[in-house]
Amino acid sequence: MEKDRKFNAVVTGVGMYVPEKIMDNAFFEKIVDTNDEWIRSRTGIRERRLLENGATSDLATKAAEDLLKSKNMTADEVDVIIVATVTPDMFFPATACLVQNNIGAKNAWGFDLSAACSGFLFAFQTGCSLIESGRYKKVMVIGADKMSSITDYTDRNNCILFGDAASAVLLEPSEDHTIGLQDSLLRIDGSGKNALYMSGGGSLNPPTHETVDKKMHYIFQDGKAVFKVAVKGMADISYEIMQKNNLSSEDIAYLVPHQANLRIIDATAERMGLSKDKVMINIDRYGNTTAATIPLCLTEYYRDGKIKKGDKLILSAFGAGFTWGASYLVWSI
Ligand code: COA
Repeated sequence: MEKDRKFNAVVTGVGMYVPEKIMDNAFFEKIVDTNDEWIRSRTGIRERRLLENGATSDLATKAAEDLLKSKNMTADEVDVIIVATVTPDMFFPATACLVQNNIGAKNAWGFDLSAACSGFLFAFQTGCSLIESGRYKKVMVIGADKMSSITDYTDRNNCILFGDAASAVLLEPSEDHTIGLQDSLLRIDGSGKNALYMSGGGSLNPPTHETVDKKMHYIFQDGKAVFKVAVKGMADISYEIMQKNNLSSEDIAYLVPHQANLRIIDATAERMGLSKDKVMINIDRYGNTTAATIPLCLTEYYRDGKIKKGDKLILSAFGAGFTWGASYLVWSI
């Protein structure tokens, strides 16, 4: 990444929201043919959260408010709001507009970004670029998904995987180039479109009684196919960004992986030569919350005092599209 720019984008605040209602593995034993041992050993998940009333903008608003409160700042200071999500409240207006109105960010503009499980990583790079340009001073990047709104709770292959959550980071400029976003490698490959998708409701298959009957408004996933490419895609790109930046496993404080499956995370850490204590994990408590997983990890580990200024982090994700990537971030608070 070019070093001649004036500003680096650095994380100066975090926030999160998870709904109170817990769906543990015992809950799924009652509604589909599954069991706690299968779910834990195949995915690493013990429980996830469910938003019973409300929408993605409500999750995102609460995460944004938590961030503002912890920073003791007012919403009118925010210049840009980017919401990464595949479960927007509606096609339009953008969820970012709803969040803007809810928190009263009267000087902000913003937009939604759709990159499924890589959504936060893509939005994070976008937000950092806006800061690096020198034009904006405070960019809020939110990952938020109400996955329960597109999950078929009769499909045991998928329903056990997902949960609802939102989390946010605040980006600001710094003239100290040793902290903040150092590098990103991001990719898309639409040839993966048939492995993981929701086909109903868009311009290809507008909603009809037939699309509802055929369950086209739910996630479809060929789990085995996605697993194979996700393991390789996430591990390869995480290793590549280490090599490109001359980082050894000793240099890295934490891998911050998208939380889709513990086995995918373990394979990525192994490829990078990282021991388990250097991998952020909360999939056991939240499952796959799509765009929220990475900032949720960052927020929890930061608030638990497990990361400190100067720590070198590798953020890494793989998702529908296909979309995937890795970012090298030096923690700044
Ligand atoms: N409980 C019990 N058995 C289940 C089950 C469940 N919830 N879901 C599937 N099974 C069964 C399957 O039907 C299959 O049975 P069969 O052999 O009789 O056909 C068996 O378990 C093994 O299924 P398989 O798909 O091989 O399991 P897996 O080890 O690949 O694990 C996933 C399934 C979904 C956990 C795994 O494929 C995965 O994590 N994929 C990627 C998911 C992902 O990351 N998605 C988001 C992208 S970011």
